[in-house]
Amino acid sequence: DALNRIAAEEARLDGRQVLVTEMEHHADLLPWRHRSGHVMVGLSDEGHIDLDAIEHELKAADGKISLVAVCGASNVTGFVSPIHEVAELAHRYGARISVDAAQLAPHHRIDVRPADDPGHLDFVSLSGHKMYAPYGAGVLVAPRDFFAGAPEVMGGGAISIVTWDDTVWADLPDREEAGSPNVIGAVALGVAIETLLELGFDEMLAHEVKLGRRLVEGLSEISGVTVLGGVEPGKSGTRLALASFVVEGLHHGLVAAALSHEWGIAVRHGCFCANPYVFHLLHMSKADVATVEGEVTAGRRKALPGAVRASLAPYNTEAETDRFLEAVRQVARGRIKATYVQAADGTYAPSGGWPRIPTALHAVVKH
Ligand SMILES: Cc1ncc(COP(=O)(O)O)c(C=O)c1O
Repeated sequence: DALNRIAAEEARLDGRQVLVTEMEHHADLLPWRHRSGHVMVGLSDEGHIDLDAIEHELKAADGKISLVAVCGASNVTGFVSPIHEVAELAHRYGARISVDAAQLAPHHRIDVRPADDPGHLDFVSLSGHKMYAPYGAGVLVAPRDFFAGAPEVMGGGAISIVTWDDTVWADLPDREEAGSPNVIGAVALGVAIETLLELGFDEMLAHEVKLGRRLVEGLSEISGVTVLGGVEPGKSGTRLALASFVVEGLHHGLVAAALSHEWGIAVRHGCFCANPYVFHLLHMSKADVATVEGEVTAGRRKALPGAVRASLAPYNTEAETDRFLEAVRQVARGRIKATYVQAADGTYAPSGGWPRIPTALHAVVKH
């Protein structure tokens, strides 16, 4: 919602565009592509933000780029973006910056900096469910004057008074809260943020950096496993404790199913809502992607390539990370005990179907 809100404001059809990177989650790509128009800038081979390429595009656009939209951290590789350096570039060339901080905010303290600082952040958005809160609530930080006009979404609660032919909008924040608000979501998100602050971002980050290094290095040592984005160990603040990887000769869906069914380990697999980035990281050519697009459009989703992603959080331990690595090692060696069937959408399930309730939970439910 937050990014769509900004995109709606940017869609002035005045010929100015939004610069996005190839790294973006679809949430930070589609609103620009379909509402305001975008220029997509490439990345380094390993999938890092390329500041020179961003500057080149901004210079070439000659004032026609109004906004630079970049993620604070990638949900595919965990790479943390140099957001303040990107902000400086954007401001130097007359644009503003929007940071999709969905992936960054749970792990790093974010400093939006004062408006007169060249590296300040104009817009920051984040999602509650990434902050260990429930789905459905999020945050948009924006300059106060951004909200000065009529709200984009209109409805009850957003007004001060409505007469037969006049509307007086409420002050902030009510003016942006049309309809019955998601009270539980907002309160839970507030509590989640307070809890993270109490736990301490520095302590959590130190722990996560250690775990992340163990994860990436451990995966890279397993024969047949390739970590997307390379294995450069994360220095403090440059890579989140997550890794996406492919296992030679095994479909990503099969690896995920085996990890879940045989090891009780939950991972995500596929393209992680970041198709262009995953295609880049898998070194696919435009022709390869066009072939896949044709297959998927014809309903053959099995053709969609992808990877497996493991994400660690502050509550994870070194022992859990090691157990995960052992599980991947066994799966990569082909030591998969159950048999699995692939569905039309490309996902795999045990041939007898997924157990409905895990045994441990069953016991809890019964007593
Ligand atoms: C980097 C990034 N941006 C945006 C989103 C989308 O957030 P939401 O699910 O709240 O739309 C996600 C994850 O879901 C994400 O990882």
